[in-house]
Amino acid sequence: EIIEQGTVSWQAPSNIALVKYWGKKEHQIPANPSVSFTLKNCRTITKLDFSKKDGQEDFEFEVFFEGNKKEDFKPKIRTFFERIVQYSPFLKDYQFEIHSENTFPHSSGIASSASGMSALALCVMSLEKKLNPEMSEDFFRKKASFLARLGSGSACRSIEGDLVVWGKHKEIKDSSDLFGVNYADEVHDNFKNFQDTILLVDKGRKEVSSSVGHNLMHGHSFAEARFAQANDNLAKLKPIFAEGDLTKFIEIVESEALTLHSMMMSSRPYFMLMKPNTLEIIIKIWGFRKQTGLPVSFTLDAGANVHVLYPEKDKVKIFEFIKNELVAYCENGHYICDSVGSGAKQL
Ligand code: PMV
Repeated sequence: EIIEQGTVSWQAPSNIALVKYWGKKEHQIPANPSVSFTLKNCRTITKLDFSKKDGQEDFEFEVFFEGNKKEDFKPKIRTFFERIVQYSPFLKDYQFEIHSENTFPHSSGIASSASGMSALALCVMSLEKKLNPEMSEDFFRKKASFLARLGSGSACRSIEGDLVVWGKHKEIKDSSDLFGVNYADEVHDNFKNFQDTILLVDKGRKEVSSSVGHNLMHGHSFAEARFAQANDNLAKLKPIFAEGDLTKFIEIVESEALTLHSMMMSSRPYFMLMKPNTLEIIIKIWGFRKQTGLPVSFTLDAGANVHVLYPEKDKVKIFEFIKNELVAYCENGHYICDSVGSGAKQL
């Protein structure tokens, strides 16, 4: 099929890991499997305009973010194209305009790499599908996740929903190091529409990027024990997802978050991404949980912001607590209300 020009468009969500990916091998192969909730409201919307060009020497593209041309976004996208061109060779046959926007504020400390890279990978796959219309839906989604992984590891968990596993695990059928798959085992109603209120403790750029952090797991004293623990925690979550035991869920999820940050603090060189208000919030959550017995918990990604997780059935009481007690620790009182979503969508 010869396609001269056209436009494809996708929206892809962010995701929050329950068992964390921290440490990788070559080619964005994770050192351990991870599992995440796909989010609903934090999304990137990307439109890819393409038109056939002469010559195949180099990539030709422009990047627009929220309407403005962005030269500084190009190196990251060029690196992405360089990594994926062996799987998507048609990328050099076209010139592109990439138009992107986020549903969340750019400077929120919310990483847009997961939603951004998965939205772009899906656009690339839509072009491939135009060139090869017989492609199956299953192949399309797996390859989109495969490509997204090469952009940013955790981005491969942003294609599907509501729970996605990335990384080979002996007890999770069809799991792969190469792409994320929907968690196919039983999931209790307690986890349906789970809530995630994201407290924006620090909206600045973080001092240490996650790629530097991943690399510091090479030669880390605790690396092997950590990778084994992640495998173990994922196995432990299986019956917890099935039975809906929120007490056990909280124990694993909070431990994962603190372990992620303790890996940072025990790296050489060591670093710390939590801020004093991150700790204030964690301590308040523990106090409230002890006092009320309500199943509210936290997780952290590679930054100071706190994701407050809780089941929908306790939403009213827990959100009241968040507003009254936790929002005061947020930068300018800013937070984002999100919940578990179902994955990327074509527009
Ligand atoms: O996808 P990356 O390379 O930005 O790494 C993300 C790492 C964590 O967010 C800390 C954990 C995870 O599994 O998402």
